Amino acid sequence: METRPIRFHFRGRTQVVADQPITRTVLQYLREDLGCTGTKEGCAEGDCGACTVLVAEPDGRGGVALRAVNSCIQFLPTLDGKALYTVEDLRQPDGALHPVQQALVDHHGSQCGFCTPGFVMSLWGMYLAHPPGGPVPERAQIDDTLSGNLCRCTGYRPIIRAATEMFTYPAVPFDRAALARVLDTLQDDQVFVYEYAGHRFHAPRTLEQLARLYQALPDARLLAGSTDVGLWVTKQYRDLPELIYIGQVAELRAIRPEGADLVIGAGALLNDAFDALVARLPELAEMRQRFASFPIRNAGTLGGNVANGSPIGDSMPGLIALGTRIILRQGARVREMPLEDFYLAYQKTAAEAGEFVQGLRVPIGVPGRHFRTYKLSKRFDQDISAVCAAFAVTLDDAGRVQAVRTGFGGVAATPARARATEAALLGQAWTEATVRAAMRRLADDFEPLSDMRASSQYRLTAARNLLYRFYLETAPGGALASRQVHVAALAETL
Ligand code: FAD
Ligand code: FES
Ligand code: FES
Repeated sequence: METRPIRFHFRGRTQVVADQPITRTVLQYLREDLGCTGTKEGCAEGDCGACTVLVAEPDGRGGVALRAVNSCIQFLPTLDGKALYTVEDLRQPDGALHPVQQALVDHHGSQCGFCTPGFVMSLWGMYLAHPPGGPVPERAQIDDTLSGNLCRCTGYRPIIRAATEMFTYPAVPFDRAALARVLDTLQDDQVFVYEYAGHRFHAPRTLEQLARLYQALPDARLLAGSTDVGLWVTKQYRDLPELIYIGQVAELRAIRPEGADLVIGAGALLNDAFDALVARLPELAEMRQRFASFPIRNAGTLGGNVANGSPIGDSMPGLIALGTRIILRQGARVREMPLEDFYLAYQKTAAEAGEFVQGLRVPIGVPGRHFRTYKLSKRFDQDISAVCAAFAVTLDDAGRVQAVRTGFGGVAATPARARATEAALLGQAWTEATVRAAMRRLADDFEPLSDMRASSQYRLTAARNLLYRFYLETAPGGALASRQVHVAALAETL
């Protein structure tokens, strides 16, 4: 296959790059090679948002999608065929500040200023998503947009005020149609191959090309949103000599209903996948909000979370409890299995050489099913779970448990069901006595580890109590709303 340089739209022209390692990050390239130091580096692991940039790509419907992402963990060749915008691009022809910046100045949204370019870029993404004359974002959306930006000195209130007020300034238009035309000239239906110092980056455009390529190169590392893999490079200095990037395969991004199921392509962005899931299962709204941050969800994929198979990955407990099946592809062969069967042991999955995750089949239309997924972590936002638990229970007319599935994270080497606990619930009346008996069985299912996040005892106790919480929220005739559970729990300890 022929190799060629990376090409992307930048500062009004096509940037051509042929002399960078395949895992050079966009941030390193901007700051160290181009001297564009407006974009800052704080953590180099996607946590602080100082490095936020906007990346634009064709949206598949003739328009463009502009997304705020963390440039510190994106590899430069993933920009091929896209456009990159940094804080310097907000400079107006007459030297004036953009309304996003002017509002931050006017409302005192910056002190030391280190975080400010990142906030500006996140806010600009939101500004562009709300054209003049249309509805302006509500407070919850502002909070979500800024969930990946940390400020250590100003405090968030002035920044949030600026986020609201920026829509009252004279509008600065952005020509999406012109950008769509430019991006069109950069598209290519061949596999893109970029080589540097013997290392290769491949970007197939179709599912067919991806399947053939991965079968031919089973030792290559698949790369999706890079929100896990990026850190292997920036934090662990791992060498990745052969990458296959799946982010240009449009078929993998598709999300479509199929009968009573929702089929989510493995390359669907976390934000898109959660939007589709929450629209059908509002019980997932809090998980969406607490999963990483807005810019991480703009890059990371649901398939990447599932394929990575971390015992503390947050999507799997809920997906397992819902009865999700994973769709795997190897060459022309497509097979499916229950998601829980995909995980064999710590960091070991059932995927064979050259086999990748094509998608997830999530059963949505199950009448009468009670479902919840809970994440316990030290902070509400942007934190790693100590324990994650999900429950799905269907009761019969007599109030007995007709079907039950659980999913747990943080209590075993892989995401897993609690089979003994489920057995203690199945066929029993959905009562406090049944649930208390099942809570005791959890010790037969799991022997959690102790680590710096939580002790074994804490994890087991918390996992049990989450089952009790689920009961309190679903008890027939007396279900408590989520916020009432806290009061009930407090009353019990008094
Ligand atoms: P990548 O990093 O591109 O890949 C991850 C792994 O999956 C790699 O091994 C890759 O080879 C493999 N892979 C990717 N796609 C496929 C495929 N289609 N088939 C087979 N293998 C594939 N995770 C949580 O669960 N909860 C959180 O709250 C959370 N917060 C985070 C916060 C920050 C700041 C960061 C940096 C990460 C966080 N993560 C969190 C982890 C990460 O965002 C998720 O695991 C994400 O879903 C990974 O998806 P990705 O597309 O970025 O995967
Ligand atoms: Fe902190 Fe990128 S430098 S998120
Ligand atoms: Fe100093 Fe935000 S202004 S960190």
